[in-house]
Amino acid sequence: MTLIDTADVYGPHTNELLIREALLPYPEHLVIATKGGFVRGGPVGPRPTLIDAIGNATYLRQCAYLSARRLGVERIDLYYLHSGRAKDASFEDQVGTLAELRQLGLIRHIGLSNVTAAQLRAARQIVDIAAVSAHFNVVAREQAAVLEAALEAGAVFVPWQPVSLTAPGSPSDTGGPAAVRRVLEPIASRHGATISQITLAWLLARSPEIMPVPGTTSIAHVRENLDAQDIELSREDIYSVDSISPERTGTQSPPPGSSVTPGTQ
Ligand SMILES: NC(=O)c1ccc[n+]([C@@H]2O[C@H](COP(=O)([O-])OP(=O)(O)OC[C@H]3O[C@@H](n4cnc5c(N)ncnc54)[C@H](OP(=O)(O)O)[C@@H]3O)[C@@H](O)[C@H]2O)c1
Repeated sequence: MTLIDTADVYGPHTNELLIREALLPYPEHLVIATKGGFVRGGPVGPRPTLIDAIGNATYLRQCAYLSARRLGVERIDLYYLHSGRAKDASFEDQVGTLAELRQLGLIRHIGLSNVTAAQLRAARQIVDIAAVSAHFNVVAREQAAVLEAALEAGAVFVPWQPVSLTAPGSPSDTGGPAAVRRVLEPIASRHGATISQITLAWLLARSPEIMPVPGTTSIAHVRENLDAQDIELSREDIYSVDSISPERTGTQSPPPGSSVTPGTQ
């Protein structure tokens, strides 16, 4: 495993502390990504309450320094603006704050999470963007334009919630609706794989610059999800999964039999 994806808002704060407790000293090859600028209340009730996005420079600076301290690092490998939604500072100023933090050496790479393609373009006028994260999986393709813009920009695209095929915040379901299972099950069975592995293999087949971050509480699922990288989907498999939820983007695979190489459109 080479990438761990967290955020100050998970817990809040406890997930970064857990990563430090479990993994420090971090292996050389491990990239730890965290995010700031999105705020939840404390753990009151079954789920922490959503407060809002905050993007003013003082707050974002504090977020990044405290994330570094909780993770036990002097420099954060990849630091995301958690959303493009804050209204207390312009989006450009928020990106500018992260650019300053990078100059100061607190951040190695800058990422954007839950932004529009237009926001990505605006951010790239200010600073290099190394990674873009958005909700994207076999059934949730609303952010396909962001995926395409990220790949065009030479950034890594990080699909969040890559295996759970329900709406964000709903109980997870890795099988998806019956119509989706009918497509995924025969492919999984042909490859001797699970549906979750097929959903990951489909993302990985689309571009080497796509790095899904499946979340799990199970070591068996960690292993299973890692093994998905060895599954080679056929062009027919990819087209079938593409067809679950068509997109109007150039990076979806062409139908089998056409002469264009997948991923190069
Ligand atoms: N940028 C953002 O705004 C944002 C938002 C949400 C999430 N994220 C990131 O995305 C990551 C993943 O999100 P997520 O955890 O919500 O969604 P997810 O990875 O799509 O789904 C996690 C759920 O799927 C189950 N699961 C995982 N692998 C499985 C497998 N092989 N077989 C069966 N079930 C499996 C897990 O259950 P078990 O525990 O039983 O395995 C868990 O219930 C998080 O770590 C987070 O960092 C980012």
